[in-house]
Amino acid sequence: MKTLRVMMLVHTTLVPPDDLTSAKDPRMEKYRTEYDVKQALLKLGHEVQVVGMYDDLAPIRKTIEEWKPHIAFNLIEDFAGNSAFDYYLVSFLEMMHLPYTGCNPRGLLLARDKALSKKLLSYHHINVPDFMVFPMGRVRKRTRALRYPMIVKSLMEEGSVGISQASYVENEEQLRDRIALIHERIHGDAIAEQYIDGRELYVTILGNTQLQVLPIRELSFAKTAEGLPRMATYKVKWDENYRERWGINYQFAKDLPDALGERVAKVCKRVYRTLEMSGYGRVDLRLTADGKIYVLEANPNPGIARDEDSTLSAIKAGMSYEEFIERILRLGFRAHEGAET
Ligand SMILES: Nc1ncnc2c1ncn2[C@@H]1O[C@H](COP(=O)(O)OP(=O)(O)O)[C@@H](O)[C@H]1O
Ligand SMILES: [Mg+2]
Repeated sequence: MKTLRVMMLVHTTLVPPDDLTSAKDPRMEKYRTEYDVKQALLKLGHEVQVVGMYDDLAPIRKTIEEWKPHIAFNLIEDFAGNSAFDYYLVSFLEMMHLPYTGCNPRGLLLARDKALSKKLLSYHHINVPDFMVFPMGRVRKRTRALRYPMIVKSLMEEGSVGISQASYVENEEQLRDRIALIHERIHGDAIAEQYIDGRELYVTILGNTQLQVLPIRELSFAKTAEGLPRMATYKVKWDENYRERWGINYQFAKDLPDALGERVAKVCKRVYRTLEMSGYGRVDLRLTADGKIYVLEANPNPGIARDEDSTLSAIKAGMSYEEFIERILRLGFRAHEGAET
């Protein structure tokens, strides 16, 4: 690929400082993704301009006019602190006719909403947990016969924000309490889902129309006693010491028979297409003891720092980190041209 001018879009607090040059720098914890992607782009020979964003689109327009980037590398996850605004930002890039990496606005919108996405998937006969939404500021009696145990989550948040052991509820009182907590703390709607017991698998997909499913990752709870809830709570996701203490591990899925792996891959491709995702994405699912697949959610633009599940899957598939980043760039162009990958 020829040398490109790449406008890297990041949150304003995550512009990697110029003197950040070592992966061992303690500041790296905060800037990991931005640093890794920027270094990969430079190593690939591209020119990079990082644009920090908060609640103003003007810097994007200015950079487009003055620097004429070929493509935007989109690492933005919210606009003005609201994670549901990410698709407006991508819509702006679309309207500026600038190619960008990752998911298109419709895919972002459809996948973000944990209720809307499940409605679409179940229409296409893809198994999802039964669920019910509890909107903020409205009293809602339970109208659907959801069975306990359930898990209560934020309808729109990501990264396991608002998910702890207490999100697993076994009776009406616990359900009410947890819904109230989501409303108060997250200031948004809550969703209660039937809790699905089983292995937790993460499946990364690359592509726009032609899709490549990468080797499957798993969150393994080897030491959690049978019958206890196994969930990627906020602590599990973000606290390495906690994982170590409880024997919880992110690893490649072991002992997954080929036929089952293929079935999982097929379902995940259907999820990706149904939710109109593009670029790269990760489908999170549960596999029950009797071999049933339940899709938990689909994540457009999942984490792509060097140590993230999607990256490790790409490397296992034979790519170097730089090749993975280059693939993502190329897919951004192809989506814009409407061509095959
Ligand atoms: N219906 C469910 N059954 C069992 N576990 C669930 C269910 N929903 C969520 N979880 C657990 O909680 C984690 C986070 O839920 P998820 O819907 O993926 O939210 P987020 O967008 O914050 O990642 C999942 O990875 C899984 O471990
Ligand atoms: Mg998730």
